Amino acid sequence: MRDYQSRVESALDARLPIPDTEPVKLHEAMRYVSLNGGKRIRAMLVYAAGQLIGTDLSVLDAPACAVELIHAYSLVHDDLPAMDDDALRRGKPSCHIAYDEATAILVGDGLQSLAFELLAKDPTCNLPPSIKLTMIAKLAHAAGPPGMVGGQAKDIAAEGRALNVDQLKDIHLHKTGALIRAAVALGAMANEAIQPHTLDLLDDYATCIGLAFQIVDDILDVESNSQTLGKHTGADRQLAKATFPSVIGLQASKNMARSLYKEAECALDKLPLSAHMLRDLAKMMVERRY
Ligand code: IPE
Ligand code: IPE
Ligand code: MG
Ligand code: MG
Ligand code: MG
Repeated sequence: MRDYQSRVESALDARLPIPDTEPVKLHEAMRYVSLNGGKRIRAMLVYAAGQLIGTDLSVLDAPACAVELIHAYSLVHDDLPAMDDDALRRGKPSCHIAYDEATAILVGDGLQSLAFELLAKDPTCNLPPSIKLTMIAKLAHAAGPPGMVGGQAKDIAAEGRALNVDQLKDIHLHKTGALIRAAVALGAMANEAIQPHTLDLLDDYATCIGLAFQIVDDILDVESNSQTLGKHTGADRQLAKATFPSVIGLQASKNMARSLYKEAECALDKLPLSAHMLRDLAKMMVERRY
């Protein structure tokens, strides 16, 4: 996993705009939010799903970067005053604090464009155009209104309102689950040999683990501290966010994350391949402390 992490760090470093070229502030800020600090879970999922099918890691660099760039953009916008208004991210001042709001908005826009540019024309991603087109469509769908952006809209609309558990699941499956599913799908699709049945099982795995990941995020907001997490805790309660601990309680949230993890493992058990990396990643995603 550490290999995957350092691989995506250097792949991102090589693909982000050069810092001392105009517009310097925008380029610097894009690098500030994309390098050093993330757990790189989504990139690791791309690499692990790809390696499972026997795909060369070099082909996976662009998709891994693309998914991390979309994720980084979502965090920059999520922290803006108009959204969660968080001043701390990955142990450092959030983008709009370190720079300013206009820069943070543009950084998000710029990271999103770069993500799609990489999928379309990064020279290391030398796949047939038809596969690349499907990958682009998959990421666009996952990041957009039917996925992450739609989930974020519902999350904001739910502030201060009482939701039932199905409504909350729907928010989490979209705001966080969609991109995690796309990470696994992009990794797996980057190979012509992929079987539809394998893709379906991997998607079952990713759906369970994506929801579990956001449930754990909600739990950590209650139980952890800013030092460990690198972001302010107690923030969900302050904004009266709809979260799993607030709707079903802490213990039930932990039980649900655990059972989703087991369900994800069952999906992997049905694969005709040994998915030890994806198994380890799922474990890490639910047992994490930060
Ligand atoms: C935080 O994601 C936001 C959520 C979708 C829960 P991560 O916990 O993966 O954030 P980084 O990339 O490690 O900072
Ligand atoms: C974030 O959910 C989901 C996205 C950024 C798409 P949260 O708002 O719970 O994430 P944190 O806790 O700020 O990282
Ligand atoms: Mg949020
Ligand atoms: Mg937030
Ligand atoms: Mg959170």
